[in-house]
Amino acid sequence: MAECNSMTMSSGNTYNDNCHQQTAVLKASLHLFDDIELGPNVTIADYGCSQGSNSVMMMQHVLKRMPPSSTASLIFEDLPSNEFSSLIKLLPELCSSNPSLKIYPSLVPRSFYESVLTPNTVDIGFTSCTIHWLKRMPEIKPPTETVEEYYSKRYARNAPSAKEDFHEFLTYRGQEIKSGGYLIIGCLGGFTKEELAGSYKDATVIRHKAVFKAVEKLVEQGVLPQEAVANINVPIHDRLVEDFLSGIEELKDTWVMEKYERKLVSHPAYYKYLSIVKDADREGKIAAAKEYAGTNIDWILAIMGDMLKSWWLQAGVKEDKIDEYYEMAKATAKDILWKEGPGGAEMPMMYTRLRRV
Ligand SMILES: C[S@@+](CC[C@H](N)C(=O)[O-])C[C@H]1O[C@@H](n2cnc3c(N)ncnc32)[C@H](O)[C@@H]1O
Repeated sequence: MAECNSMTMSSGNTYNDNCHQQTAVLKASLHLFDDIELGPNVTIADYGCSQGSNSVMMMQHVLKRMPPSSTASLIFEDLPSNEFSSLIKLLPELCSSNPSLKIYPSLVPRSFYESVLTPNTVDIGFTSCTIHWLKRMPEIKPPTETVEEYYSKRYARNAPSAKEDFHEFLTYRGQEIKSGGYLIIGCLGGFTKEELAGSYKDATVIRHKAVFKAVEKLVEQGVLPQEAVANINVPIHDRLVEDFLSGIEELKDTWVMEKYERKLVSHPAYYKYLSIVKDADREGKIAAAKEYAGTNIDWILAIMGDMLKSWWLQAGVKEDKIDEYYEMAKATAKDILWKEGPGGAEMPMMYTRLRRV
């Protein structure tokens, strides 16, 4: 059986510093909390909280609606390999920001593809930008395949396991969330064929490919060994709308879908890029495109930078060289991405609010 995925976001608070796209994704879900009736004693769980800056924003959004003297139990859950220390630093401010409330945070370092919380204890479960992460590591890119081919076959390869993972995720949450409680999901999706045939480009794939092309370039230059590109098996799956909706439908005895929305959410840096290039001369346009590409690569590496480094270590790169080569790969990826053009901006997100039967 394939190894479980324990890959997590880049450490050293890097994720918190570069997660503006996920912040935009999360903000687009907050209205789904607004008509939920909050009793005097509420338990909220964020599944896949990462280093916490977005998670804390969601918790604050709910806390500010709670009546004075209420009690809030806030559960932050993520993989054991997650850098919880960054999140812990945010908790004192979160707890003191609502002095009229009694706030009890707790951390749960476990995979959400298992039962992680006491049955029937959660009022509101939440998860944003998380369930596209697969439970198990997918197949490594076959050596005969280029990065381009790997990405073109990725959906078909991962769809069966992603279907099982979603079923498990919803089943476990169905045990933890109280009858009448809620589960709010923001799930990364894929573009439709029509969107891709029109003006949209698959920005996630374009950014991934820029990173792997940069690694290939360092291999060609003899900086990194051939094995450094052999390990590509990014454990994510961008579900299509029909996969998402049918996955929920399968568990209709457990969950009622109260709301569903699909939104295309852009990185905030894209709006900055557009506003600069509108009136800029050639030099100004180039500078803006470089800045936008740079922000995108910093963001994607805040997600998979530590993953790359771990593959290079396995490929025999000396530990004391990893950071130097990483900086080279990062600079090369930024250069590749800006030369290829902005490469799309929108992330297709599927949002739902489910009610536990
Ligand atoms: C892109 S981050 C999103 C973090 C946060 N929800 C946000 O919106 O900023 C994805 C998070 O999902 C977590 N994750 C991935 N697989 C997981 C699993 N099986 N169990 C728990 N967390 C997982 C990762 O560790 C990471 O922190």
